[in-house]
Amino acid sequence: MKSHYTMRLKQQGSAIIYVVLALIILSAAAGVMFFKAKQPPQATQQMKMSQQAPVETSLPEVTVYKSATCGCCSKWITHLESEGFKVVSHNKDDMNTIKIEAGLQPELASCHTAFVDGYVIEGHVPASDIKHLLNTKPAVLGLTAPGMPQKSPGMQPEGLAPQDYDVLAFDKAGQTSVFSRY
Ligand code: CU
Ligand code: CU
Repeated sequence: MKSHYTMRLKQQGSAIIYVVLALIILSAAAGVMFFKAKQPPQATQQMKMSQQAPVETSLPEVTVYKSATCGCCSKWITHLESEGFKVVSHNKDDMNTIKIEAGLQPELASCHTAFVDGYVIEGHVPASDIKHLLNTKPAVLGLTAPGMPQKSPGMQPEGLAPQDYDVLAFDKAGQTSVFSRY
């Protein structure tokens, strides 16, 4: 009989502990919820931050096609991004097909082929030339820096001025004109 009684006491004791534990957990949860409610939602904070940042929202997205192993292509993409462009990059095994579809004559070709706002950008064209193209919207197919100019963005360390090459504008017939001279 005595052992029965102590067992019941024990059971009651552990039931009380469970209730106390549950109360502690509930009040902790309520505290967390109250604290969260007092903080402004994260979305508002992010919006405030992007409003403060100097943004070039008018720049259209650049789509780049390149081979997976092209290091200078990735560096050129970094150059565009540092100049405010949003870049979407695709790795392609068959770059020739893309260049033919883009309307590029073989002698005008370089490593990567990019598209922005209906224009073709071939090779290591400086971001400043792309911005100039987008501002002036000439009736050309696009811009190219044929070959691999050594002193071009993506080929030389970022920040150095382009040198010793021409950026050409070209049309469907393969007609070219000098767009920028470095
Ligand atoms: Cu390259
Ligand atoms: Cu490239």
